[in-house]
Amino acid sequence: MKKYILLLVWLLTSLITMQATDLTHDRLSIIPSPVRIVPGDGEFCFSKKTVFVVENKRQAEIARFFTDLFTYAGGFTPELKIGDKKGDVYFVTDASLKSEAYRLEVTSQKITVKAADEPGFFYALQTLRLLLPPSIENMHEVSVVWNVPVVTIEDEPRFGYRGLMLDAARFFIPKENVLRIIDCMAMLKINRLHFHLVDDNGWRLEIKKYPRLTEVGAWRVDRMGLPFPDRKNPKPGEPTPIGGFYTQEDIREIVAYAGRCQIEVIPEIEMPAHTNSSLAAYPNLACPAVKEFIGVLPGLGGDHAGIIYCAGNDSVFTFLQDVVDEVIALFPSRYIHLGGDEANKIYWEKCPLCQERMRKEHLADEEALQGYFMGRMAAYVRGKGKEVMGWDELTNSVIPENTIIFGWQGFGHAALKAAMQGHRFIMTPARIMYLIRYQGPQWFEPLTYFGNNTLKDVYDYEPVQEDWKPEYESLLMGVQASMWTEFCNKPEDVDYQIFPRLAALAEVAWMKKGTKNWNDFLKGLDVYNEHIATKGIVYARSMYNIQHTVTPDHGILKVKLECIRPDVEIRYSMDGKEPTVTSALYKDMIILSNSAVIKAATFAGSKQMGKTLVLPIEWNKATAKPILNIESNQQLLTNGVRGSLKQTDFEWCSWAKNDSVSFTVDLLRTEVLHSLTLGCITNYGMAVHKPALIRVEISADNKEFEKVGELHYTLGQIFREGTFIENCRMDLKGHSGRYIRVVAKGPGACPVDHVRPGQESRILFDEIIVE
Ligand code: ACM
Ligand code: ZN
Repeated sequence: MKKYILLLVWLLTSLITMQATDLTHDRLSIIPSPVRIVPGDGEFCFSKKTVFVVENKRQAEIARFFTDLFTYAGGFTPELKIGDKKGDVYFVTDASLKSEAYRLEVTSQKITVKAADEPGFFYALQTLRLLLPPSIENMHEVSVVWNVPVVTIEDEPRFGYRGLMLDAARFFIPKENVLRIIDCMAMLKINRLHFHLVDDNGWRLEIKKYPRLTEVGAWRVDRMGLPFPDRKNPKPGEPTPIGGFYTQEDIREIVAYAGRCQIEVIPEIEMPAHTNSSLAAYPNLACPAVKEFIGVLPGLGGDHAGIIYCAGNDSVFTFLQDVVDEVIALFPSRYIHLGGDEANKIYWEKCPLCQERMRKEHLADEEALQGYFMGRMAAYVRGKGKEVMGWDELTNSVIPENTIIFGWQGFGHAALKAAMQGHRFIMTPARIMYLIRYQGPQWFEPLTYFGNNTLKDVYDYEPVQEDWKPEYESLLMGVQASMWTEFCNKPEDVDYQIFPRLAALAEVAWMKKGTKNWNDFLKGLDVYNEHIATKGIVYARSMYNIQHTVTPDHGILKVKLECIRPDVEIRYSMDGKEPTVTSALYKDMIILSNSAVIKAATFAGSKQMGKTLVLPIEWNKATAKPILNIESNQQLLTNGVRGSLKQTDFEWCSWAKNDSVSFTVDLLRTEVLHSLTLGCITNYGMAVHKPALIRVEISADNKEFEKVGELHYTLGQIFREGTFIENCRMDLKGHSGRYIRVVAKGPGACPVDHVRPGQESRILFDEIIVE
């Protein structure tokens, strides 16, 4: 009996110990993952008796930022002493550590924080913050034991520049939200906020010398009911209720708070383009060739995006220098970002002043004129003791001396042209680091632009490429996630796009090359997400959603379901019922040879983690049949799945050249054909429109084809506004055939009154339905 009791005691103790170890392990899952973690046994508990001992006032500031957490969530404020001997949490300067590095030793009795500089101490405390229960983020008192596990951590960043760009111009982000984002950046040890304060859609910074910049430039017409690219330009006299700006006092508050978080706020003042906002306020700064009414743009602007500062008018430079003077007085950052991207030179080509400047300065073309423009402003900024930053378009002509280039085009490689000339650079490739893009399967996401940059895409990014010369790497200052806000209509939309992808950026920026681990990251991410959720951030759960791929394969369909999180199971039903934890477990591939509706979701334990995917597959005579002479992704035309209203959802096929699209479906046997329907999408703002002509020809042998139907659309029918799907149907009158050839012709350029005048329209099809 005694033996059994002993065994039972042993079993129970092992179970408890195992659980404790597991808990400790989870509690040590922090991001960005530190360089070295040595777990120990036990825990340190913060209480009202805890005393912080620091060496000087600056350290006291840093400690106070941390102890404030206890003031709110714990209802007590740990004591803070400078230069004392007795305490519980010690700050010790260790000059042998690198800048921003720290060493954290937590025992059950005391905590020692070592660093060489303030950021190092700050980051050690942010690590402690993530080791505390997430309730520490509450602004009201909660009853929790404030313990952290015993551990030793050594840590230092990979890159000195770890950035987030916030575009407050397209969508004005209220100050309170900016402050909260800054705090969430701090937890991730991100140290640069690139603040995009100027664009065609709003001027967001009070400039005392030019009050119209915010009286006029910060406000635009209300087109909020439409997606950004669909919005038409303002007309004179229209009310302008949409917008906002930061007063200089607001900016001081933001900069000061960021400073406490060891974050440098880098202001971006766009030039010479993307600035209809300032030109609406001061139209005399545009080229005299501009005859149109200039308003703050609610959308892309069409032709008006070409209205930019006049490079031949000296008062433009006086104006911008005055602006820079006030910017320098407000932002202690060592950098000023001067924009420089996407400058359309149509007016410069027509402007006598710009042309005169080119002659005088011996500039070969308008691109060189932009080089002159940026060079002149850069020299002014440098003369004020600041360093200049700019987008990678600055590499199109002479790069101003010492300018730091942000690579965004061509996976950021456009910046390498600058590196070749010895310039420092920062990588923020649009195709990976632009947080405006979809972060998960598009069927579940709010409408935005372009393709996907999932959490995993951001996470997997390695900026340093194999084929780089070694000197490029030493010029690479770091990486940045860029949050453009064209599709944000409320502050929560900004949070949703940023979080949790910013956490992935943090690991890219902080962790040494080759040390990232996706599974470990997700554990740390779950902890971080609990912290920011407690702060009221509603982060995206897109990482739990399912991406489907349905591929035709000679008469059958192969259905693939994928989730970027490996720690969930995919369960699915095909009986119309909602998927549950007891539904079939998705393992490999679902094979279909008939219509079906698959409903699938991800589960962890018994909890559904993502949204339910409802995937209807409708069979017709063309379904799963091969398409000849077509790119492989265009096999989607016979996958039985209709596209959504997002033409980038991987269900729509597009062609590089739209003037003569042609493809042939092989039905694999002769069929009697009654009708053919082609699914077409219109997305006005993106210049996606239906064809001008669709012709259908059939054949028994894929040699001799007979025309059996043709549809024609007028320009009025084609260039309609809105986003919608149409079924373009043709009666095939019972003809027989095995091969169906579809020929379609795009309608060409968008008309002058379109939001994208003159731009070549594109045609997209999702499905060919044969009955
Ligand atoms: C940019 O995306 N135009 C920098
Ligand atoms: Zn001009």
